[in-house]
Amino acid sequence: MQLHNYPIAQLPIARLANAESNFIMIQTLEWTDQGVRFIDQTKLPTEETYVTCTTHRQVADVIRNMVVRGAPAIGVAAAMGIALGVKNSKAETAAELEPEFDEICKEIGETRPTAVNLFWAIRRMREKFEALRARPVPQLKQALIEEAQRMHAEDIAANQTIGRHGATLMPASGGVLTHCNAGALATCGYGTALGVIRAAVEQGKKIHVFADETRPFLQGSRLTAWELMKDGIPTTVISDNMAGAMMSKGKISAVVVGADRIAANGDVANKIGTYSVAVLAKEHSIPFYVAAPFSTIDLETTDGSKIPIEQRNAKEVTHIADKQMVPDGVQVENPAFDVTPANYVTAIVTERGVARAPYRESLAKLAVVAPAT
Ligand code: MRU
Repeated sequence: MQLHNYPIAQLPIARLANAESNFIMIQTLEWTDQGVRFIDQTKLPTEETYVTCTTHRQVADVIRNMVVRGAPAIGVAAAMGIALGVKNSKAETAAELEPEFDEICKEIGETRPTAVNLFWAIRRMREKFEALRARPVPQLKQALIEEAQRMHAEDIAANQTIGRHGATLMPASGGVLTHCNAGALATCGYGTALGVIRAAVEQGKKIHVFADETRPFLQGSRLTAWELMKDGIPTTVISDNMAGAMMSKGKISAVVVGADRIAANGDVANKIGTYSVAVLAKEHSIPFYVAAPFSTIDLETTDGSKIPIEQRNAKEVTHIADKQMVPDGVQVENPAFDVTPANYVTAIVTERGVARAPYRESLAKLAVVAPAT
């Protein structure tokens, strides 16, 4: 694995291609001739370091270790990892390639269980493989690389549309609380929840973001605050246990979060702590919005109780910056996600439109709507 350190002035950041946004777009991940390149999110906010993976196994590792994280980014990383694995294959026919393809998909599919975008991406790459298996292997390889790149571009476009749909729901001015990081860093650019905030700000709304720090991995304080600061969007970091106090003081007008998987009935799996925020929002009559691409909606999972919840290493809880914070031997829980029941969710904002309760009907309707871009 190759590591690049860029001085800040030479950061490979670009403006959105369609000039739709004035915000800087962070290159969370991209396909390059050398391999798949990721900004190393474990090092942010103090170090801007890039990692280039040259094998699919390295891509699986960076997903597992959260160098890249966030459901949509995990999905596209998986697709690029598969394309990379296929590119590296020595197989001369599709029949020879098939068992290797299956093994690559298996290894990538075993990285993180909750974000359904991972399995959505694997399925889409598999469908491409099946559709084009009669082609010569070099063409098949190229088609898979292009499919992964297409998914990258589609993700940014979807986020911009989610942003447009969601911005209308944001207050003209006031505090908006978000949890974890559902921003450019969790996607291929622009973000879902932060895309809604970016679009609202671009419409002239005076939003002040309250970013929950998001224990134990601190995606809110490390990542959300980092990318909003880059864009000059006013942001206050709070520790997770301050959210209720901020709401009771009238500082929060709306909540917007992302999702890792949304069940057919509208139950939402998202970063641990989201459920507590939703309950607090309901108690204070504050709208609670979920912003996610349609690839996060899993109509095959009937309700939230069926969503697999990833358990992560206890060390994420017991240590902060390598300093031990709990006594030796104490029991520790570390579920990475929780499920917010649909009755706490005011609306689900997707690129296909905004769904409201009853979600079983509204999400099923969106499934047959052509994506609006
Ligand atoms: O464990 P993470 O950092 O991958 O969890 C990320 C989240 O929970 C995000 O809110 C979710 O993936 C939506 S990202 C647009």
